[in-house]
Amino acid sequence: MATAFLYIIVSILISLSTTISNACPPSDRAALLSFKAALTETSNLGIFNTWKGQDCCQNWYGVSCDPVTHQVADINLRGESKDPIFEKAGRTGYMTGSISPSICQLTRLSGLTIADWKGISGTIPQCISSLQFLRILDLVGNKISGSIPSGVGRLSRLGVLNLADNELTGNIPRSITNLTSLMHLDIRNNKISGTIPINFGKLKMLSRVLLSKNKLTGLVPNSISNMKRLSDLDLSVNQLSGPVPDSLGKMAGLNTLNLDDNLITGQIPLSLISSGISVLNLSSNGFEGYIPDAFGPRSYFTVMDLSYNKLRGRIPKSISSAAYVGYLDVSYNHLCGPIPVGEPFDHLEASSFLSNDCLCGKPLKAC
Ligand SMILES: *[C@@H]1O[C@H](CO)[C@@H](O)[C@H](O)[C@H]1NC(C)=O
Ligand SMILES: *[C@@H]1O[C@H](CO)[C@@H](O)[C@H](O)[C@H]1NC(C)=O
Repeated sequence: MATAFLYIIVSILISLSTTISNACPPSDRAALLSFKAALTETSNLGIFNTWKGQDCCQNWYGVSCDPVTHQVADINLRGESKDPIFEKAGRTGYMTGSISPSICQLTRLSGLTIADWKGISGTIPQCISSLQFLRILDLVGNKISGSIPSGVGRLSRLGVLNLADNELTGNIPRSITNLTSLMHLDIRNNKISGTIPINFGKLKMLSRVLLSKNKLTGLVPNSISNMKRLSDLDLSVNQLSGPVPDSLGKMAGLNTLNLDDNLITGQIPLSLISSGISVLNLSSNGFEGYIPDAFGPRSYFTVMDLSYNKLRGRIPKSISSAAYVGYLDVSYNHLCGPIPVGEPFDHLEASSFLSNDCLCGKPLKAC
């Protein structure tokens, strides 16, 4: 009798302790609840209605836990998603409020995505740089202001940093060059100023660098050409100045180079024309001199936009020897002379050649 009673007690205790150890730690639950308290989901999709009960690892929308430690490993909240909640409601999400520093108590966090909620404001908590397991930080499409935390360089595992479409100000923190695992950097469409760190090329894993639509000044650093994996470099719509480093055209993997709408001067490096780049936009800068006569069978441009510069001389004949030129725009320069005949010129429209000094021939009027 007594043994049977003891047995029951012991089994209750065992099952109780398993339930408890499978649940998220109370401190993680508390951190999530104060994160939630700082936000208001005004689109009424009920995203946070599932955040109830003791176990934050069970059915809390957008929360996942480490299967071994049961600590919160991932927060993934997207205001624009194909999730049934959104499909059923037929609308995208909207949230106001801010990102609570309580998020920093989730010490095992490896992914933090709070994207496209349009109305989340406030700043990025400085303490985020203490989340040493963080691999993804994605806060795109909100109204976040203030600067990028200066200690961001401590996130040694960070592979994705996406802060695009916010209202961030301040500089690119110098510590960013310590993020040696970073593969994807997107801070487009903010108000970030100052220069691109001169040793930016230390970030050898980067394949996409998207810094467009900010207030960046200074030079395009030479060191960028050390990024052997870089395929997409977008520095457009800033106030960058000086010449383009010749070494950019020698990067084997570079596919897209957008430098349009800056204050860049000097000649177009010959290397850019003979490179493997397929989308090249140099529009709206101060490029001067001739278009390098360096096209060849390796040249394959789906887009080449050289409009709104100070280029002079002729359109080089070698363009006809390029493997492919899909879209070409040389309008608003000081070019002169006959437009070559044959590919790619027979499929281009007059708008590609408008407003030069004395270009002539098809599709403009005869010479
Ligand atoms: C980058 O990391 C090194 C070594 O950990 C450290 O000494 C240096 O201060 C860091 N640089 C920045 C700008 O944080
Ligand atoms: C090139 O850049 C200019 C200026 O930012 C932009 O207006 C134009 O649409 C771009 N060209 C192409 C082909 O995308």
